[in-house]
Amino acid sequence: MDTKVLSADASGIAAAAEIIRAGGLVAFPTETVYGLGADALSAEAVARVFAAKGRPRFDPIIVHVASPEEAERLWAAVPPLARELMARFWPGPLTLVLPKTPRVPEVVTAGLPTVAVRMPAHEVALELIRVSGRPIAAPSANRFGRLSPTHHEAVLAQLGGAIEAVLACGLTPVGVESTVLSLVDDPPRVLRPGGTPLEALREVIPNLRVNPPHGPSASPGTLPRHYLPATPLYLLEPGPPEDGEGVDRMRCGFLAFRDGWHGFGRVEVLSPRGDLVEAAARFFSALRALDEAGLAAIVAEPVPEEGLGVAIMDRLRRAASGRARLSERHAWPMR
Ligand code: TXA
Ligand code: MG
Repeated sequence: MDTKVLSADASGIAAAAEIIRAGGLVAFPTETVYGLGADALSAEAVARVFAAKGRPRFDPIIVHVASPEEAERLWAAVPPLARELMARFWPGPLTLVLPKTPRVPEVVTAGLPTVAVRMPAHEVALELIRVSGRPIAAPSANRFGRLSPTHHEAVLAQLGGAIEAVLACGLTPVGVESTVLSLVDDPPRVLRPGGTPLEALREVIPNLRVNPPHGPSASPGTLPRHYLPATPLYLLEPGPPEDGEGVDRMRCGFLAFRDGWHGFGRVEVLSPRGDLVEAAARFFSALRALDEAGLAAIVAEPVPEEGLGVAIMDRLRRAASGRARLSERHAWPMR
């Protein structure tokens, strides 16, 4: 793919907005770092973000809006504190985490029930959101494990050829990512320090808590936990069924990569055409649908471990409580 370098003026922004509306990817400047933007309301566009970044796993992504009102349409409930923070710190490098509405696709939040939203203080970013006519999901525009880019040349060096376009606007003014603040926790908790200083937040939230910077062990149970099913999940393995406790297939859900599976209580197909981007886009909502169907077990078909298949298999392995082999009539989940 040829990555277009667009000028950060009205015509460049119009072209970028057209790409976003068509489900494509555009890197754009914010006041913090460049973001890799996609239509936040399209699961498939957001799945392509993970593919372009080469992420071996899914992470929840920040949704960028052009006004507090737009943020309120993405959140299920908006406490007075959120309104106060938006009035005081937006536009600016403060990301707020609150429960999401069903409008926000699961792949945006990596299956979490919450969504992180911010209004960037950068006229090009705001204009892009306005002209696109939809919120824009964007992680930092670096390849997985690399530094966040603060210049469009750094974006091109990492993602050139993997995305449709970059809006070229030189250096970003702040240079560090936004502060991520969870308002789901009480008292509110800073999940990631960033461009909005803690001192400024403490003026509004005196009892603010701050996550230790390193490692989940530092504050167990408080870091964002990605969605894991409550129903036992078994990863399907090739080979004949082994001895074990048989589970009736009709009480099992089946998470299929491609079509062609029958005889289960419920089958969710990730991608009939065998496309890993489409599969990633559907992954979390399909898993949730099976989890909420009151089944005894979920059996998942492995997907090819290439592209986004690596991220899908990472989630499946972590969700799996065992392995399963199928016979004609039964599944035998093995512990
Ligand atoms: O300044 C920034 O925040 C930049 C620009 C582009 O906006 N974006 C950015 O995105 O740094 P990213 O994907 O590199 O980092 C997003 C952070 C991650 O630490 C992620 O875990 C957290 O936000 N996050 C996103 N959604 C979340 C959620 N629902 N709950 C908790 N944390 C969330
Ligand atoms: Mg990042």
